[in-house]
This record gives sequence, structure tokens and C-alpha cells, in this order.
Amino acid sequence: MASSTLCSFFISHALIILLLYISFPSNNPAAKHTSSASHHYRHHSRSPFQNPKLHQAYTALQAWKRVIYSDPSNITAKWVGPDVCSYAGVYCATPPYDKNIKVVAGIDLNGADIAGFLPEELGLLSDLALIHLNSNRFCGILPQSLANLSLLYELDLSNNRFVGPFPYVVLSLPSLTYLDIRYNEFEGPLPPQLFSKTLDAIFVNNNRFSNVIPSNFVGSSASVVVFANNKLGGCLPPSIANFANTLEELLLTNTSLSGCLPPEVGYLYKLKVLDVSNNNLVGPIPYSLAGLAHLEQLNLAHNKLTGIISMGVCILPNLANFTFSYNFFCEEEGICQNLTSNGIAFDDRRNCLLEKPNQRSKKECEGVLEHPVDCFHYHCGGGSTAIPPTMMPAATPLSSPSMAPGYV
Ligand SMILES: *[C@@H]1O[C@H](CO)[C@@H](O)[C@H](O)[C@H]1NC(C)=O
Ligand SMILES: *[C@@H]1O[C@H](CO)[C@@H](O)[C@H](O)[C@H]1NC(C)=O
Ligand SMILES: *[C@@H]1O[C@H](CO)[C@@H](O)[C@H](O)[C@H]1NC(C)=O
Ligand SMILES: *[C@@H]1O[C@H](CO)[C@@H](O)[C@H](O)[C@H]1NC(C)=O
Ligand SMILES: *[C@@H]1O[C@H](CO)[C@@H](O)[C@H](O)[C@H]1NC(C)=O
Repeated sequence: MASSTLCSFFISHALIILLLYISFPSNNPAAKHTSSASHHYRHHSRSPFQNPKLHQAYTALQAWKRVIYSDPSNITAKWVGPDVCSYAGVYCATPPYDKNIKVVAGIDLNGADIAGFLPEELGLLSDLALIHLNSNRFCGILPQSLANLSLLYELDLSNNRFVGPFPYVVLSLPSLTYLDIRYNEFEGPLPPQLFSKTLDAIFVNNNRFSNVIPSNFVGSSASVVVFANNKLGGCLPPSIANFANTLEELLLTNTSLSGCLPPEVGYLYKLKVLDVSNNNLVGPIPYSLAGLAHLEQLNLAHNKLTGIISMGVCILPNLANFTFSYNFFCEEEGICQNLTSNGIAFDDRRNCLLEKPNQRSKKECEGVLEHPVDCFHYHCGGGSTAIPPTMMPAATPLSSPSMAPGYV
């Protein structure tokens, strides 16, 4: 469900950018013939190319074709001759800066199963607004020349075989808004600068990123951030609160997170999806989650969380699915005992809820509950985040959720 909403979100934005490009009067025949730049070029060079940009695009695409080693659908076999706009997977449009020419504005080779590299010559495609290479077998690293793509808006490299450290070159792209590098083999830390760019969507899941989530987020503009299935480790930094004005989906499943959930998660007032499942989180659910009025999906499953399932979360007006199985919760407050009556799908299995079926054994529960976690003094793994003590309330799980700090 989450993935299908992400998909439609992504596709709709791809269409918008193509429409933006295409909406310039590009097929106006008068415009074509009054283009002094292209006319000049054709007249003097007798070039088969309509303009120098298309000539450069030809050079780039032929260089790319030379480093493609497998193309089972023969898509690039027909990348022949000067009419690059007719090449399969290559889209031309009128650029913002000259209404009289056409340039290569998009590459879409999604699902082509092509194996090869990305050559330095791709920097010649300086008008690209989108690159979609989902589900191919491109490998190696990204060429530094991609820094030349000042109009690049969407970069989807998902499900390929790219390797090496985080591709820093993407941080230099001034127009980049959608970055999708999931399902590759990138490794090492995520640079903090990634979160200070004006990106709307950041998908870095299913790589080999390690080290902690950067603790120095400064006012990100992202509405979707998917870190899932990496070995990040450490704690979720309180500075996650800097995403508050935009973040709607935060997916952190299976990222080796430890420590307590910081109360600042509850400051992300636009959140619709929060998934921190399959980690090593301890301590209680912060009361501040009761302030997430837009929250629809909450997944806390497979952690070592303790304390009570408090009413403030169970009565969230938009909550549709509350999954908290495989933890050590020991009490459900009020309506939380019957979420069905509130129209909420839930999974409460394998906790320490005495009244409920499918719970952990008494022995298993006692082992954990005898050692309550002090979030105030908890030290995060990986030497990551120096948590300001004033921001970490001690765990006092029986006070009322309406006392959540900072909520209106
Ligand atoms: C691609 O071309 C090769 C060699 O010409 C041919 O054997 C193969 O059947 C073609 N594949 C497709 C999907 O057209
Ligand atoms: C960047 O783009 C410009 C304009 O298309 C081109 O002349 C130049 O060679 C490109 N640089 C690289 C490194 O590809
Ligand atoms: C969890 O992430 C690791 C990489 O850190 C991956 O190897 C593993 O398959 C993931 N587990 C699931 C259930 O996706
Ligand atoms: C609720 O969310 C969990 C975890 O994402 C999912 O496995 C489950 O299928 C969802 N239940 C419903 C009824 O949507
Ligand atoms: C939960 O509430 C529903 C609807 O209000 C009711 O039918 C059901 O019996 C309740 N279940 C329990 C275990 O109390």
C-alpha cells in the first residue's frame, strides 16, 4: 500500500515535468524557421543536426551505446543516425531558454534490463530534466560530468548495480527534486548535505549505507524519506524535527536503529506514514506521537519497545493501521484494548499484554521488564548524536497523553 502510493506519486511528478517542458510552443512550424541559432548552425556547418545541442546529444548517446554490454530487448541497437529524438527511450522537448529549438530533455529506459556503464560523455546531455533507469543492470559509479546537468529534476537509478560511496555529484545538481537510488550497492555514510537540498523525495533504501543517520539535519524540504533496509545504526536524531514542515512519509524499517524514539518524531505534524519496524528500539512510545493528526500508518513492530499503548495514539483521527507486534508493551489504555471498535487495523501479537492472545511468555516478559530503559541516560551506538538532555524527558509512562509537550 505504501509502495503503490509512492509509485503513483512519482509517476505523476514525472508527467508534470514532461508536460512543463512540452507546453512550450515546440511544434509551431513558424517558430522552427525563425530560429536564428539553429538556422545559422545548419547553414554554415551543413550538419545533419538541427542544432549543436542535438549534435552533442548524439556524441553522448553513441558513447553510452559503446559501453552497453547487454541489451536483451535491442533498445539501443536502433540508436543510429543523427535523429536522436527518434531513439527509443530518448525524449526531446523545447528547453526553457530557447523556444525555437529541441533538445534531449529526458531519458527513460525503465525496465530495459540493460547492462553497462554510464560514461563521462553523459555530461553533454546538459538539458536533461529526467533520467529514469529503473530496473537495469547499470554498474560502476556515476560520472562526475553529471554535475553539468543543471536542469535535472528527477534522477531514478533504482534497482541497478551502482556501487561506491554515496554519489556526491548529485548534491551539485541545482534543480534536482526527486532522487531515487534505492536497490543498488552504495555504501558508507549518507552525507548530511543530502538533507539540506531542496529535494522533495529521497529514496536511499536497500543499499549498503552504514553509519548513523546524520544528526545535523537543517530544515529539509523532503516530503518522503525512505532509509529502509540499510545498516545505519545509532539513534534517530532529535534534529529529525527539522523535517517538520514537509515530511509526510518516514520509512526506517530494518535500519539497525537503536535507542529510544526521540519525542521530536511527534513534531513531524504532517506525517502520514511512520515505519520504524524491525530495529532495536527500546523505551516507551513518546507521548508526542499523539500530536500526529494526519498519521494513517504506524508500524512499530519487531523492536524492544516497552510501556503502555496510550490512548492518545489510539484515538488519532486518521489512524488506519497500528502495528506494534513483537515488542514488550504491557498495557493498553482504554480504547486501545479494542482498536477494531475504532476502525483501526492492528497487530498486537507477541507483547506482554496479559489479557490478549498470542503474547510472549511471562518469563520472556519479566526478563525485559525488570530492566526498565532510562531514555535520559541512553547512549546511542555509533558515537552519533549528542542528544541535548533538555530534549529527552525521562520515561514516565503513566501520565496523560494530553500533556504532550509543544502540541496544539
Ligand atoms: C535482439 O537481437 C539479437 C541479434 O540480432 C536477436 O538474436 C534477438 O532475438 C533480438 N531480441 C529481441 C528481443 O528482439
Ligand atoms: C556541459 O555542457 C556544455 C553545454 O552543453 C558542453 O559544452 C560541455 O562540454 C559539457 N561538459 C561536460 C563535462 O560534459
Ligand atoms: C534488512 O537489511 C539488510 C541490509 O542492512 C538486508 O540484508 C536484509 O535483507 C534486510 N531484511 C529484510 C527483511 O528486508
Ligand atoms: C497494516 O500494516 C502492516 C505493516 O505495514 C501490514 O503488514 C498489514 O498488512 C496492514 N494491515 C492492513 C489491514 O492493511
Ligand atoms: C470490540 O468492539 C467491537 C465493536 O464495537 C465489538 O463487536 C467487539 O465485541 C469488541 N471486542 C472485544 C474483545 O471487546
